[in-house]
Amino acid sequence: ASTTEIDLSKIAPGQAIKTSFRKQPLFVRNLTPAEIAAADAVPLAELRDPQTLAERTKEGKKNWLITLGVCTHLGCVPLGAGEGENKGPFGGYFCPCHGSAYDTAARIRKGPAPTNLVVPDYAFTSDTVVTVG
Ligand code: FES
Repeated sequence: ASTTEIDLSKIAPGQAIKTSFRKQPLFVRNLTPAEIAAADAVPLAELRDPQTLAERTKEGKKNWLITLGVCTHLGCVPLGAGEGENKGPFGGYFCPCHGSAYDTAARIRKGPAPTNLVVPDYAFTSDTVVTVG
């Protein structure tokens, strides 16, 4: 099995990077307190695929949102991880193929995608290093 190690030390709050995991795009995002608050303010009843931000992150590390960068509609790579990229109307990620919009917890909020961006298995091996897979 192949794992991927990610150095989080250079990802500033509010920044998201695009890397890869087993040949798939992987998004790693350091959420700001405002982005965390925005995710936590959404009632679960409003969500197509109801999950809290806490369920999608590790305990005590709620700011680190790690997901596949693969739209759950037909697999395009959403925008929003990178300098100046379109985060869409819900402030997370936006898939330009058919307009799926994800929020700051990478949960589907609008458009045809059926489910949230997938959170892969990962673990913190130190405060600043994560091993995915
Ligand atoms: Fe993303 Fe269709 S592949 S909206």
